[in-house]
Amino acid sequence: MSEAFVIEPAGELHGSVTIGGAKNSALKLIAASLLADGVTTLRNVPAIDDIATMLELVETMGASVSREPGAVVIDTSPGVEPVAPYELVRRMRASVIVLGPLLARFGRARIAMPGGCNLGARPIDLHLKGLEEMGVEFNSSHGYLDAKVDRLRGSNVTLEFPSVGATENIVMAAVGADGPTVLENAAREPEITDLVTMLNRMGAHITGVGTSTLRIEPAEQFGSVEHEVVADRIEAGTFIAATGIAGGEVELKGARYDDLAIAISKFCEAGLLISATADGIWVKASERARPTDVATLPFPGFATDLQPQAVALLSTSGGTSVVTENLFDGRFMYTEELVRMGADIRTDGRHAVVRGVDRLEGAPVTAPDLRAGAALVVAGLVAEGETVVSGAEHIDRGYEDFAGKLRALGASIERRPA
Ligand code: EPZ
Repeated sequence: MSEAFVIEPAGELHGSVTIGGAKNSALKLIAASLLADGVTTLRNVPAIDDIATMLELVETMGASVSREPGAVVIDTSPGVEPVAPYELVRRMRASVIVLGPLLARFGRARIAMPGGCNLGARPIDLHLKGLEEMGVEFNSSHGYLDAKVDRLRGSNVTLEFPSVGATENIVMAAVGADGPTVLENAAREPEITDLVTMLNRMGAHITGVGTSTLRIEPAEQFGSVEHEVVADRIEAGTFIAATGIAGGEVELKGARYDDLAIAISKFCEAGLLISATADGIWVKASERARPTDVATLPFPGFATDLQPQAVALLSTSGGTSVVTENLFDGRFMYTEELVRMGADIRTDGRHAVVRGVDRLEGAPVTAPDLRAGAALVVAGLVAEGETVVSGAEHIDRGYEDFAGKLRALGASIERRPA
């Protein structure tokens, strides 16, 4: 049954919150487990719906999956049928990330074509182009993409744009190729560093980690591995925005300051105090936010996945900010919901002009996607009266116990049937 988050303003946030493993890393590490002949043990795996979907996908293919609290063990030895069915790809677009590992291991894959998405058009042409340069042939019919290759060829591949998913698919294919691959203009997100670290532990030899040129030497074989998922920088950034809007002082345990450096500098421009601690990030907000301009960019730039939460914060600042979305078309749709809460936001293509208002008003609103949903909850922390954010299932895809974690910091938030 569909549920809603119900939020009432309850003053400042205080205390500490533990940041979980990164959704966008754990998903790819689960896909990488398809390369192994043995067992992959992943620790610090968040209990969120997208992870459940990815585990269901590898299970559907034949792997055996066992879940322990915070960890999953994936064993591919029962055999894997390299087919990603429509029911699962439809639920989660990121399922296409199994393409690279399946081609590396089986030389073939059959994947339902990912459909439309509420972040605007999200093609996979860069994934396919890179894999074609490695010898893969694609055919699409009846809603499925069939990929096959006799021997994957190590190649020089240059991405037109540092796409996260294309980088990951090409790297995971290249570890099973004949000969080395050099990938130029690769994405540099911390989640890619996490994936490369695990692939190296499994037997690959990839250098250039964290830079835009990756040199990938294939693995002779892929051994069993145990790996801890990197902390979720987007969950951490969401709690920074929440503290910024509500005021207060919060410690984000396990969060990694360096993975958020540019976002942190922007939040500091907006008046927050933020520093690294021995075990995370400390954030304090004691004044109304100041306006600041934000432009999203691939890592290490300001993450598009924090753009809606930043807009929520800036919508209550003491001035006007211009926010530019450079990654996705259609990632400002949620601003209409913030406007229903009294925000003053005008959008024009890639730009949003956010004029800070003195107060937001609680209202029934709908989460159109994961991060926008989180932003509406964040706005609800200070909106007068009751805010009801329906579409909780979007938020559940990527935040583990979002309401519980906010409540532990002093927020008034609960779930109820929508
Ligand atoms: C990843 O998506 C994340 N998802 C997204 O997180 C995140 O917003 C995005 O990277 C950017 O940081 C996962 O990791 C599962 P891209 P991905 O390929 O890999 C265009 C969240 O809320 N493009 O870097 O799909 C594309 O349309 C989410 O957790 C092509 O044109 O991102 C987009 O405009 C949602 N052709 C841009 O590049 C392609 O072949 C960035 O996409 C591939 C991408």
